[in-house]
Amino acid sequence: MNLENHAIVVTGANGGMGISIVERLLEKGAMVTACDIQTDKLQELSHERLLVIKGNMLDEFQVEKIFQESNDTFGKIDGLVNSAGIAQQAAPIESVSLSEWRKLIDINTTMLFLTCREAAKYMKSNQKGSIVNIASISAVRPRPGLQSYIASKGAAESFSKALAIELAEHKVRVNTVHPGPCDTSMLGQFAAAGTDVDQAKETIFKQSVPMGELVTPKDIAASVSFLLTDEAMMVTGAVLHVDGGRGL
Ligand SMILES: NC(=O)c1ccc[n+]([C@@H]2O[C@H](COP(=O)([O-])OP(=O)(O)OC[C@H]3O[C@@H](n4cnc5c(N)ncnc54)[C@H](O)[C@@H]3O)[C@@H](O)[C@H]2O)c1
Repeated sequence: MNLENHAIVVTGANGGMGISIVERLLEKGAMVTACDIQTDKLQELSHERLLVIKGNMLDEFQVEKIFQESNDTFGKIDGLVNSAGIAQQAAPIESVSLSEWRKLIDINTTMLFLTCREAAKYMKSNQKGSIVNIASISAVRPRPGLQSYIASKGAAESFSKALAIELAEHKVRVNTVHPGPCDTSMLGQFAAAGTDVDQAKETIFKQSVPMGELVTPKDIAASVSFLLTDEAMMVTGAVLHVDGGRGL
């Protein structure tokens, strides 16, 4: 399960899952381009195979430049992990504004279109690649009040499958990971206004997981890493639930 000589771009790399993914990929020997709109935590990591780029992945020109810089630095792009995303605070649909809906769809779905479109150019020319899009188990097992977030993650899953069939003949694989409730700062952001976040983690979120524990960023990183390796050579269009049974 080695990633030596694999050049991988990670979006949302400064986030809870993102940092863990970057660390795991470096441990496995990969060359990693870590991008995020904020890079404070990434700046604390220092590694000869790590390139940190600050940028808004929703800006198509910035996305183009980031992939170009990554390719110039490491000579190729073999992998892309999309971990960037935002949460929705649980709320009834009639209180959700059109701009909130659009922001969720833009960041959680349109951003995948932009980064995957760019990755496909490099991967098709190499006739090799692996893309992992992080969606959410809520796409298949919804919770009340998260209608806009869940729509954006459902689109992420469908988009990934559509791209998997489109790129299969070019030996470019596209898979989805559906995390269950994961212990990052995002988790508390799903709670309705006025909720005690720590209590919600222990009650609502933990109790929704049949295995009785929150998912950890390391759990996600391990599955993402596997999907990027050549061991997963024939795995494409798959949806991997890393959720302690939350989707059952
Ligand atoms: N934490 C959970 O419980 C949970 C559960 C299911 C799915 N997810 C999904 O997993 C992924 C990672 O979540 P996390 O828990 O690490 O959240 P997080 O908030 O810690 O990380 C998300 C990262 O995305 C970055 N980002 C947002 N907009 C961006 C933009 N325009 N350009 C570049 N970067 C941008 C943020 O700066 C942040 O660092 C997200 O897609 C999230 O929806 C999270």
